[in-house]
Parts: sequence; structure tokens; C-alpha cells
Amino acid sequence: MPMASTIDDIARRLVEPRFYADERAFHEGMTQLREHAPVVHVDARPGVNPFWAVTRHADVLAVERDDALWVNRARSVLTNADLEAKLRDLRGTQYGVRNLVHMDGDYHRAMRAIGASWFRPKVMRDLKVRIGELARRHVDSMASNGPDCEFVGEVALAFPGYVILSLLGLPEADYPALLRWTQELFGVSDDDSRRGNSAVDMVDVIADFNAYFTDVTARRRESPTDDLGSAIANARIDDRLLTDHEATGYYQIIAAAGHDTTKACLSGGLLALIEHPDELRRLQDDPSLLPSAVEEIIRWTTPVKTFMRTATADTVLGGVPLDAGTAVAMIYPAANRDPAVFPSPMTFDVARTPNRHLGFGAGAHFCLGAALARLEITAFFEELIPRLESIELAGEPAYLPTVFIGGLKRLPVRCRIR
Ligand code: HEM
Repeated sequence: MPMASTIDDIARRLVEPRFYADERAFHEGMTQLREHAPVVHVDARPGVNPFWAVTRHADVLAVERDDALWVNRARSVLTNADLEAKLRDLRGTQYGVRNLVHMDGDYHRAMRAIGASWFRPKVMRDLKVRIGELARRHVDSMASNGPDCEFVGEVALAFPGYVILSLLGLPEADYPALLRWTQELFGVSDDDSRRGNSAVDMVDVIADFNAYFTDVTARRRESPTDDLGSAIANARIDDRLLTDHEATGYYQIIAAAGHDTTKACLSGGLLALIEHPDELRRLQDDPSLLPSAVEEIIRWTTPVKTFMRTATADTVLGGVPLDAGTAVAMIYPAANRDPAVFPSPMTFDVARTPNRHLGFGAGAHFCLGAALARLEITAFFEELIPRLESIELAGEPAYLPTVFIGGLKRLPVRCRIR
């Protein structure tokens, strides 16, 4: 049993973006927490409101599944106290971010249903061709620009970005601006990505997003088109159109949630295949392993690091009594390496079955775009793997420091592609 101070130190590091970027130290720490303090109080440094961290698969699942007990509205994302207060003040104003991940109950269900029909199997089947073309376009450009490629910047970022634009029905010309905003939103802890370091800078980014999407709503109401953008603009809830604020929040969550997450899976998946050449060879020899490889890539990379919930009543979680009002952070990458659910959890195994990872969460907030994400990751590796003659690292990979959504921010590779 490690000393209590060691456990406290590890728990405290959960608010440090750099911790998540140091994969080895992070997973070593999570092994300690899962074994010795699976539901642990995080008395974070000044500037972060206290919370409890949950690292075991079973406990994360228990929180996810009981959405009456564990609600999103109070505190859904782990962030510092200043930004939390600022965003709370802004709720209800045009700058307040409020989207599916901040909602609960019937209102959440009704809002979610607006987007859900755009992720159903038939729509996914129709998108498959377009996504396959985009995958080919990106692998072709790797082949023609090669052999050296900075995979994150040149491929992993752009590919899911274009897919989201297609789905929303937005012009490709708007891509650079949307890309910049999502990078600024999720890169708040990274010197290379953020616009600034304060809550005020974050509000500026949100304001840009809002101005752009308010205009999209107006145009789609004037002349509706057959895409998710128009579906949001013209959706009705309680017999009224969405407010600009509601519509904008919707576009934001789709544009933002679907971008960096998939990027992290593509780049983290490629790195895993480079670091495990036997697994790459297995996949090349037996393409029928691709579906299980895609799930393993999602488990292995787990791009969403945390989401939070707040208890509406006194409860017991993992044997620990918690008062009503307690906030917990679900540490998804820790749950996804839990040996109670995944035999040899630290092994990257493209044939792993079953694979009950929580990379997409679970329950009422289960990732709305999971089918699309799977389609994109599958399309990309389906195109790349048979054409790949050789691949190796051409420099040090670097991870984005983040407590929320992250993964590689740089992956220099040298490859030969047919
Ligand atoms: C591999 C890529 C992706 C990963 C790992 C991922 C992961 C997640 C996770 C962990 C959640 C929260 C689940 C929970 O609270 O239980 C979530 C929610 C969500 N995701 Fe994804 N996601 C991915 C791709 C996408 C894509 C491509 C889209 C859309 C285009 C998308 C849209 C959403 C939305 C709208 C929500 C909020 C759902 C709600 O609160 O009801 N995601 N995602």
C-alpha cells in the first residue's frame, strides 16, 4: 500500500494538463489509484474547486448509468474555478456555452433527438462514400508529399474537420476559421494552441464561434438545405424554434466534439501501430481484424480524458459515502486500462474481443457521434494499411497538455505508401 501522501500527490496531479500528456507517468499513477484509492478526494491546488476522481471501470459506469442521481448541469467539465465562475455568469447570455453536455432530463433528451436522427445507420451508410473519398484524398497526399509527414498537422486534423463540415453542410472555405477556433477551445492548456491564458480570451473564442453560427442559423432558416446544419436551425422544441443560443451551442458541440477526438484516435492509432509493428503486420495479413483494431485504438488512445457529474442526493460510490452536491470526475483513460475488465490492459491488441471500453462514455450522454467516429477511423486505416510499405518515427511525438480532450499534437513520421 503506497503512503497516503503518494496517493494524494497522484490525485492532485489530475488537475495538471501536463500529467495527461505524460502517458507513462499518468498510467502508472492511475494504476495506483485504481488499486488503492479508486474513488479519491482531490484537494486540488488553489484555483480548482475540490472534487472526487473515479478511476475504476465499474464505478465510472455506475455514475454514467444513473443520470437521475448524477447530473451534468452543475459542473460537466473539469476546469479551474475562475473559468467555472465566469462561464456560470455567462450562462443565459449570448456568450454562455450551453450544449448537450450541460443538460439533463427531458430537455436533454429532446435536444439530443434533434441531432440523433443525423447519426442513424442510414445516414452513416450514405456518408460512407464521401468519407471513403476524403480518406483516399488524405492518404494520396501523404503518398505524394512523402516520405516525411507531420501526421497530426497534415492529416489527422484536417480529415475529421472536413467530415464535420460535410455533415453540417458548411463550405470547405470556412474550414480554416473553424479549425482555429476548435484548436483554441481545446488547446487552452497548451502554449502552442491557445489564444491567451485567461477566461476572457476563452470568451473571445466563444464569441467568434457564436457570431459565425448565428449567421448560419439565419441563412438556413431562410433557405433550408438537406444537412444537419439546417436540421438544427429549423428544429422545434415545445413547438418553438431553437433560440440562437441553443442552436449555436448545438453547432459548437458537433463541430468541436467531433474534431479533436477523432484527430487523437487517428494519430494515436498510427503511433500505436508504429510502436507495435507485429500488430500492424497482423492487420495487414488479416484485414478482417480492422473492426476490433478500431475499438482497440479508441480504448488505447481514449481522447476524452474526463467528464464530470454532480450528485443530487447522498450516495455511496465504490464503497465511499459521498454527500449530495459532491462533484466527481470520471477518468476515462484510467477506466479503459482497468484489469478487472481488460485482460493485459497495457497491451495493445488489435484482436481484443470483447472490448467494453468507455471511450465514448455510456448512458444518456453516450457519444452522439460514435458511429461517425468509428466510420472515419475505419475508413482511414482501411485506406492506409494495405498501401503502407513502411513507416517509422521521424522525430519525437508530442502530446497536448489537457485535462479534457487531447492526444498527440505532433507525430513526425517517415513512410512509403503505394
Ligand atoms: C473517437 C472520437 C470520439 C470520442 C472518443 C468521443 C467521446 C465522447 C465522450 C466520452 C462523450 C461524453 C459521453 C458521456 O458523457 O457519457 C461524448 C459526447 C458527445 N460526442 Fe463524442 N466522441 C468522438 C467523436 C464524436 C463525433 C465525430 C461527434 C459528432 C460529429 C461527437 C459528438 C458528440 C456529442 C454531440 C456529445 C454529447 C452527447 C450528449 O451529451 O448527449 N463525438 N463523446
